[in-house]
Order: sequence, then C-alpha cells, then structure tokens
Amino acid sequence: MTPNRRIVVAIDGPSGAGKSTVARAVAKRLGILFLDTGAMYRAVAWAMLEQAELGKGGMGTDEAAIAAFLRRLRLRFSEDGERISVQLDSGPARDVSAEIRTPRVTSVVSQVSAVPIVREMLTREQQAIAAGRSVVAEGRDTTTVVFPHCDRKFFLTASLEERARRRKAERPELEAVSLQEVADEIAVRDERDSTRSVAPLRMASDAVLIDTTGLSLDEVVERIVRECAELLPAS
Ligand code: DC
Repeated sequence: MTPNRRIVVAIDGPSGAGKSTVARAVAKRLGILFLDTGAMYRAVAWAMLEQAELGKGGMGTDEAAIAAFLRRLRLRFSEDGERISVQLDSGPARDVSAEIRTPRVTSVVSQVSAVPIVREMLTREQQAIAAGRSVVAEGRDTTTVVFPHCDRKFFLTASLEERARRRKAERPELEAVSLQEVADEIAVRDERDSTRSVAPLRMASDAVLIDTTGLSLDEVVERIVRECAELLPAS
C-alpha cells in the first residue's frame, strides 16, 4: 500500500482523542513513517527539567537561553518513529521514550510548548523530517502550521469523559488516579493548548472532523485510510 510519491497526512486534536494510536495504525497501513510531534515537545520538556535538576540552572522563559540550549540538543527518532532519544552536545544519546510520558514531564509540557522559540525550532525539524519521506504526523498544529499544504488533514476529537477514560486505560501509572482528576488534567491542557498565542490548537478549515466518541480504533483508522485511498497506487 506504500504511496508512489511523497505524501503527508496530518492529524490534530486535543489530548486523549486517540491521535497517537490512530496515526500509528494509519502509518502502518500506508507503510510510511509515524511522526509523533508531541514526543518532540515532551523530549524538550524532559531535557529542560533534567538540566534544571542537574543544577545547571533553570531557563525559565528566557527565550535566548532556551534557544541556546535547543541548539545544543539533538532529538532522534528510531526508524519506526516509536522511540525518541535526546543528545546534548557530544554526550551520550539517551532513549527517553518512557520518561517523556511520566506525570513529571506531562505537567510542564504545555508550558514548554507555548514558548515561541521552542515551536519555531521544532516546527523546522518536523518539516525537515517530512522533506525526504512520507509521514503521518500527529499533534496540535500539524494541519495548521507545520504542514498547511499537506495531502490530507484530520481533526480528531471525543468527549472529555471518553478521553479521560481512554487515557486512564492506556497509562498504568494512572491507575490510582480518579477519572475526574484525569479529566481535570486534560481540561487544563486543552485550555492551555488552545489559548496560547503561538500555534494554538484549532481545527483547520479544510480538515475532516472525526468525533471518535463511541467509535472503535478500527473504525477511525478505516475512515482515514479510505479518505487517503486516492493517494495510494491503484491495486
Ligand atoms: O500529544 P501529547 O500529549 O504527547 O503532546 C504533549 C504536549 O505537547 C501537549 O500538551 C501539547 C504539545 N504539543 C504541541 O503544542 N504541538 C504539537 N504539534 C504537539 C504537541
């Protein structure tokens, strides 16, 4: 099913709408790379926390200091897009795929992703990754800012309750946390992600809206793959 030209499919939506699971499955079906842009924001947030904790000084919101730090940082995805590693200067590359999902990182990532220079640099990196290959990208601004001229755009959403339920089910570390608390945390992130001044979460006018409440993963994936059928070689 691999497309015969470079294609970019972009999927945006709020936290817990199922974007990663859906994007990963669609990428597999199309035989192209899964580009998890949220993992890049999480990796930067992780590196900034690490730097502050090592006593190397917090950067706060000082854009010049953050830019200088980001220039020393290399983010690399594994070939399948599933793992991400961080390297500072010529130090060892560290696989942070698990650590970037911890509540410690989740609690600060919205703030980090609201810093304009962070967005500018990661947007450029995301565009560079997709410059040479086909991708299914997912995030908050992939349909509006990163790939405004991509081949297909989707906006995935679901009710807050459903999103909290899914998040709790997929994260064992949230077992002891109540559904209400998970929903509250998601609502706070939604609010921050959609009201920030740079690249806020919003639906592109040419995106296909899919409300995944009550739909199975397979149903959503099928729907997207069907919409992408024209991009694929006739079988
Ligand atoms: O999808 P996620 O939960 O892994 O994303 C982590 C955070 O990164 C989320 O709070 C919003 C931010 N993000 C963003 O601002 N822009 C993107 N393209 C992807 C994620």
